[in-house]
Amino acid sequence: MTDVATTGFEILFGRPPEVVREAPGRVNLIGEHTDYNDGFVMPIATPQRTRVELAAADDDVARVWSTSIAADRAVSYRLGDERRRGEWIDYVQGVTAAMRRRGLAIRGFAARIESDVPLGAGLSSSASLEIAMVRALGEAFELAIDPIETARIGHDAETGLVGAPVGIMDQMAASLAAPDAALFIDTRSLAFERLSLPAAAELVVIDSGIKHQHAGGEYRVRRQECVDSAQRLGVRALRDVKVEALAAAALPPPLDRRARHVVTENARVVEARDALQRGDAMRFGELMNDSHRSMRDDFEVSTPEIDALVAIAQQQADVFGARMTGGGFGGSVVMLVARGAAREIAELVATRYRARHGGTPTILIP
Ligand code: GLA
Repeated sequence: MTDVATTGFEILFGRPPEVVREAPGRVNLIGEHTDYNDGFVMPIATPQRTRVELAAADDDVARVWSTSIAADRAVSYRLGDERRRGEWIDYVQGVTAAMRRRGLAIRGFAARIESDVPLGAGLSSSASLEIAMVRALGEAFELAIDPIETARIGHDAETGLVGAPVGIMDQMAASLAAPDAALFIDTRSLAFERLSLPAAAELVVIDSGIKHQHAGGEYRVRRQECVDSAQRLGVRALRDVKVEALAAAALPPPLDRRARHVVTENARVVEARDALQRGDAMRFGELMNDSHRSMRDDFEVSTPEIDALVAIAQQQADVFGARMTGGGFGGSVVMLVARGAAREIAELVATRYRARHGGTPTILIP
């Protein structure tokens, strides 16, 4: 058994790293399944981060080791020879392939990856790895890559070699968000704005323990339903539909419900931004509750277990609002709670959920 903590870069590669770069995971506060509809999102960075230590090599071979595999030897591949293996190394291969496609001059390298962003919890461990990797390679090979381009490279890696048809929210968040401010993003223009959380509030995030899977079927189906809805409505994307126009839209089910989620969710994100500008935790919380209801009933990406966890959270005093975060079908629940009460509420909600529904909910924040 390899001792993860002591399998340092020097032990693996016989020399010290030249650069060390990090990137966080993300929790989306509101704006779910809007990013691939050119809409609005509002993630915040997790305190959990992925860290990449890296040194350039003289050849064109990538040698990569990760604490998540805890093997004795690094996985290697030749640059230019990237191909999907269905494993974690695909995120790294996706990044190098995307950088090379852009004509960014990278050579071989040795890299050691370490992360405390939990896998499969809906906090986008994959985007944090992609962004930390782009940053480390950018620094090692002295390439000037701005944060939006960094996000675009990460997104190309994920939609290209990895093959998950995701929007750009997670990579934008990993590249640009901080843990102390919400990041409002217009995913069409990639314009963004940082907003403080209300002084009276803080966040709780609980992982339901139910694993989700994106590259998987349902996400793809929802995405296609959105494309079909936009086409029938004669717009470029559902972002271009106003709430008032929905009633007259006359889409067949389930497209009517899918479109209603996206269009109302976009409106909620804009209103959530206004609420943050006023420091209004109550209104922000109500919008989170509405967002969950819409994901549950209209977009149908929740599960009974997640609904139960959200309902328990919403029933507690000192909770402004709660919703599932991320792509859905499992993952984590985010709650906005009264400042100072986070630890106590998180433990109460996790305990009640365990007592009634079993499972292993884990408190990720605080
Ligand atoms: C996943 C995707 C994002 C976004 C969310 C849903 O996290 O990676 O691009 O679509 O689902 O909001």
